[in-house]
Amino acid sequence: MESLIVNNLVKKFPLSKKQRKKLYTSETEKTAVDNISFVAKSGEVFGLLGTNGAGKTTTMRMLATLIKPNSGQIFFNDINAIENPEKVRSQLAFLTTDLKPDMKSTPSAMYDFFAELYHIPRNYALERKKQLFSEFQIEPYAETMIAKLSQGQRQKVSLVISVIHDPKFVIFDEPTNGLDIIAAREVRDFIISMKKNGKCVIISTHLFDLVEKICDRAAIIMDGKIIANDTLDNLMQGRSLEDAFYEMYLKQVKMKEV
Ligand SMILES: Nc1ncnc2c1ncn2[C@@H]1O[C@H](COP(=O)(O)OP(=O)(O)OP(=O)(O)O)[C@@H](O)[C@H]1O
Ligand SMILES: [Mg+2]
Repeated sequence: MESLIVNNLVKKFPLSKKQRKKLYTSETEKTAVDNISFVAKSGEVFGLLGTNGAGKTTTMRMLATLIKPNSGQIFFNDINAIENPEKVRSQLAFLTTDLKPDMKSTPSAMYDFFAELYHIPRNYALERKKQLFSEFQIEPYAETMIAKLSQGQRQKVSLVISVIHDPKFVIFDEPTNGLDIIAAREVRDFIISMKKNGKCVIISTHLFDLVEKICDRAAIIMDGKIIANDTLDNLMQGRSLEDAFYEMYLKQVKMKEV
């Protein structure tokens, strides 16, 4: 059983003079993630749900060891991610819309490049390429230039390449952003197949629908804080997730006013 444990994570960004002016603030730093804790388990999809600027990407980047928190702990099983980022990286897949694929490359060449980067034995890499490209129907455009592919096809290639090294943990920031309904559906199916393969999947999104469809458990993040964290059934309590979220949002706003 794999688990990701996040304890009291805090991330503050220093604000430059220019940023302070833009944000109409005199504060010298912005607390993007404010003391959050949660647990995600293998065989489940955990969702981090929040609006723009809630702190989702910052959290995901800390999990992926791309940036360090100011304080708090992250454990992938018993590995401390802050002390052993290298060890953790070999066990996780990270996907974010910030990463742009090389437009002149092809899915097949990109796969080979990353297989080599991850030091995957050649024969095994080829075998796995066949299996992954077939499972996710990439074969028909495996040799087509990335520039000529649809956004959904590109996203699928990125997803497949991100799991080349068969990681135990899968971290996807806004995995269906900007995709049409068919592509979004395919990405959802991909995530569900990862979960069925026993991976521990963590996604961030602002889409209620995505969380309702694929998450077993979700945390609602607002202004860098987790205001609810439960199974989907418990969060929704017979309402739609959107209604549940809105209710929590109003409560939070009222609390701030007091
Ligand atoms: N490098 C940075 N310097 C200063 N502030 C930052 C930096 N990165 C993020 N922030 C701020 O931290 C807050 C959280 O940002 P983050 O990108 O994590 O939000 P998000 O939930 O991913 O939002 P979105 O839905 O827009 O992607 C925002 O107010 C953002 O402006
Ligand atoms: Mg984001």
